[in-house]
Amino acid sequence: MATRGIFQEVNLPEQKCYENGLVFPMVLSPNTNNTSNLNVFEEAIKAEKPWLESLLNERGALLFRGFNVKSPSDFNDVVEAFGFAELPYIGGRAPRTNVVGRVFTANESPPDKTIQFHNEMAYTSNYPSKLFFFCDEEPGSGGETPILLGPVLYDKMKAKHPKFVSQLEQHGVTYTHTISNEDNTSIGNGSSWHSTYMTNDKKVAEERATKQGSKLEWVENGVKVITGPLPAIKLQEKSQRKSWFNSLTVCYISQKNAKFYDSMLGNGESVPDDAMEDCLRIMEEECVAIPWKEGDVLLIDNLMVMHGRKPLIKPPRRVLAALCK
Ligand code: FE2
Repeated sequence: MATRGIFQEVNLPEQKCYENGLVFPMVLSPNTNNTSNLNVFEEAIKAEKPWLESLLNERGALLFRGFNVKSPSDFNDVVEAFGFAELPYIGGRAPRTNVVGRVFTANESPPDKTIQFHNEMAYTSNYPSKLFFFCDEEPGSGGETPILLGPVLYDKMKAKHPKFVSQLEQHGVTYTHTISNEDNTSIGNGSSWHSTYMTNDKKVAEERATKQGSKLEWVENGVKVITGPLPAIKLQEKSQRKSWFNSLTVCYISQKNAKFYDSMLGNGESVPDDAMEDCLRIMEEECVAIPWKEGDVLLIDNLMVMHGRKPLIKPPRRVLAALCK
């Protein structure tokens, strides 16, 4: 069990242990009682940043528990202590509000609804490399943020659907998303084009979309955003493992319901339903859902780890987020 400075690795029953000995996610707690002052945590982050980053590279997700992070502004200070550059949420589709500093609400869609597994903003070419989550109000029950290792999902999908996965690697994926003129917080990706591109000016929206590899086609009640082909699989630099990195299952589920979000292979072929059904099943088998505790800070490598949201069974729940370049 790793230990360094004030950090002590601990085990939780929900973690997964893979054959290579990798425990996912890594959970770090203080090994000292001297953490009543948030400053101690911030200074420890600064002092041990290279070590923490190497752990993040290796494990994909770090959960910090018990460090006395008590408010959104404490969380903002913790994010700042890591010193990763902020990624503005331009092009993002989740309804979100700024809380303080670089801290935003995680997603304002109804908490009793599931949010499918995704890599943050994988449907643009300008996605965050890391994400922070913070539990401001602990859920009564449910409302976990399940996480999943992309390399594990890739390996399992490759074994089950080798032809489809090699097509995906070869052609990538093209996303088509119709965004309305009005915000819709009843769905997980219901931002209006004004909120998505942070402007009321269509020309500015078009310029911002172009920078992210998207093309806009204005339609009666909003705009159709066509993005891609984008890579759907990413190669991890350090481990040289390939990782699932796309929004295919989000599109698949959305298509079955509202049909405003669609994806196809970069060569125009459709994504097979049976592959998506297997993908959803593997996601459920491989994910880890640790119940939130107030003050938890979760740091995720967005290229290596997918996340979602389980339905909230008993309120309250307040989980906040910060995105890094
Ligand atoms: Fe997300």
